[in-house]
Amino acid sequence: MKIFVTGGAGFIGGNFIHFMLTKYPDTKIVCLDSLTYAGNLSTLKSVETNTNLQFIKIDITDRKGIFSLFEAEKPNVVVNFAAESHVDRSIENPDIFLKTNILGTQVLLDACRKYGTERFHQISTDEVYGDLPLDRPDLLFKEDTPIQTSSPYSASKASADLLVQAYHRTFGVPVTISRCSNNYGPYQFPEKLIPLTIINILAGKPLPIYGTGQNVRDWLHVDDHCAAVDLILNKGNIGEIYNIGGHNERSNIEVVKTIIEILGKGQELITYVSDRKGHDLRYAINPAKIQNDMGWKPTTSFEEGIEKTIAWYLDNRKWWEEIISGEYQTYYSKMYGKR
Ligand code: NAD
Ligand code: DAU
Repeated sequence: MKIFVTGGAGFIGGNFIHFMLTKYPDTKIVCLDSLTYAGNLSTLKSVETNTNLQFIKIDITDRKGIFSLFEAEKPNVVVNFAAESHVDRSIENPDIFLKTNILGTQVLLDACRKYGTERFHQISTDEVYGDLPLDRPDLLFKEDTPIQTSSPYSASKASADLLVQAYHRTFGVPVTISRCSNNYGPYQFPEKLIPLTIINILAGKPLPIYGTGQNVRDWLHVDDHCAAVDLILNKGNIGEIYNIGGHNERSNIEVVKTIIEILGKGQELITYVSDRKGHDLRYAINPAKIQNDMGWKPTTSFEEGIEKTIAWYLDNRKWWEEIISGEYQTYYSKMYGKR
């Protein structure tokens, strides 16, 4: 069995590679990643000598290169994590989101079609459903909730999903799609709320809260996401979409206060800043389909997962200190300097 994992030097793709190498000693994993600002080979450092892992630096929009790779390697399965993933960056510069997230997905679908790949799995997001009101806790995203996107990021991910479905219907490409809620855990790039908060607290820097801080996200530990994707690869029905989430809604201010408390600090660093444009109010996943069809359920509670994640950032300073010493500072000043 040979699996192409695109975006495997990023947060979730990297965790997925660790998960798969541990669980399946007879599976070959080929990581395809162009190493953008978010891709980091040190995420794969502890498995770099594993003979089941191969790394290839390639852009998924490079049609010629991708086709040659499929020709040479003939993967059984492709799992597409590669994407531009940060909403704030998509508001600053949408172009690269459309290129990577839509056209890159199309190149992979064309290659799967040509080389008869047994499965193409698209890693999508709950953001394709838009948002839910704060005062209707009874409403949750189901797989048939209409797509209604808010940001250039979510629009690009929704476009990719539509292409994946079109390639299944028109060309018979064997696809599955998963739409997960917000992930947290080791190796997450510190532009995202949880690692940014941990790292800023450690540096004594302000903790920027967009708008009122009442926006709600549905948090899932990345290991539970990886386990769900593995199940879908093994038991999912071709052509289907599966929502992934663990009923774990928290407002942003609650999340930040929890991290402050675990680190034993005071709340004086909390700083309310201007809101994200088009800021989605609330995400909440109904995971009944994957639970009922495949018996998936999350194993890490938020209380346990956030403690473990904070401990990981404390124990792995080198990983994130290298990141924040570079271009990250320019990004940070641009995003937060005048906010
Ligand atoms: P990330 O930004 O941490 O990693 C993305 C990876 O993709 C990086 O290694 C980057 O180098 C690579 N990449 C980007 N453009 C590429 C290109 N053109 N060719 C090859 N590689 C490229 O992202 P993440 O948070 O790990 O998200 C992974 C996937 O999961 C994305 O598709 C995202 O939409 C989806 N998702 C993320 C979350 C979340 O909470 N982070 C939740 C649901 C879904
Ligand atoms: O829901 C899944 C999505 O989750 C994924 O598809 C995206 O790839 C991923 O980035 C994430 O998107 P969010 O926009 O929800 O994540 P982010 O960590 O950027 O923000 C979480 C919430 O915290 C959001 O309401 C914005 C807010 N926020 C974020 C940052 C970075 C702040 O208040 N301050 C901040 O500095």
